[in-house]
Amino acid sequence: MTKENIVELHDVTKIYRQGTIDVPALNGVDLCIPKGGFAAVSGPSGSGKTTLFNMIGGLDRPTSGSVVIQGQDLSSLSQSALAKLRLFKVGFVFQAYNLVPVLTAYENAELVLAMQGMPPAERKKRVTKILTEVGLKDMMHRRPYEMSGGQQQRVAVARAVVAHPTIVLADEPTANLDSKTGGALLDMMHSLNEHHGTTFLLATHDPMVMERAPRVIHMVDGAIATDQTKD
Ligand SMILES: Nc1ncnc2c1ncn2[C@@H]1O[C@H](COP(=O)(O)OP(=O)(O)OP(=O)(O)O)[C@@H](O)[C@H]1O
Ligand SMILES: [Mg+2]
Repeated sequence: MTKENIVELHDVTKIYRQGTIDVPALNGVDLCIPKGGFAAVSGPSGSGKTTLFNMIGGLDRPTSGSVVIQGQDLSSLSQSALAKLRLFKVGFVFQAYNLVPVLTAYENAELVLAMQGMPPAERKKRVTKILTEVGLKDMMHRRPYEMSGGQQQRVAVARAVVAHPTIVLADEPTANLDSKTGGALLDMMHSLNEHHGTTFLLATHDPMVMERAPRVIHMVDGAIATDQTKD
């Protein structure tokens, strides 16, 4: 195990039980993501991208194999230790239902910090800074229904990165966005990767995301078919 890897998967298998049928979702996945990496995970629907993210983010446990985050084997962690890891180390961006509808952009972004127990003054500094960085300085006090899809996705990304997580797992972050809005969101993630050193993994069907990612991991039938790093 190398120290520089934020994520290591060793021979990870995930089988979902559906009644009496076993559905293999991951099939012996080996993967290393270095600190500060930025990778797109592509592959047809059902190839295991979301399952892979659920394993890395500690939302679910593998059937066999090991997931190591910053040197910590997740199988050795209790449920509450896993919850703590998710709260402090992982930022999640989901495709839909990203934001708490009754909370403003500011409150949505602040939520994680409040759960972490960060003092209010520090929270205010952090949230204001990140929302300004993602271009939402004037929309901080709007609720999700008062914002466009792209603006809501920006809030979701801001919320995922505001606590300075070790890794951000973004599942189809540009789906449902037009190419201009998706491009702007991607600019923002690349910039956070460069300036904050945040590690990003993006599951995607979007050719633009794959084109711009320095590394593209292609999944087929629960396994990594190709793993290409561009130079
Ligand atoms: N909770 C579950 N119970 C049973 N089977 C599941 C469950 N979650 C996923 N699967 C199955 O596991 C396989 C991988 O699904 P997964 O959601 O990881 O694919 P994906 O690559 O994210 O697809 P998409 O591009 O459509 O989001 C599929 O066959 C899916 O039906
Ligand atoms: Mg998926």
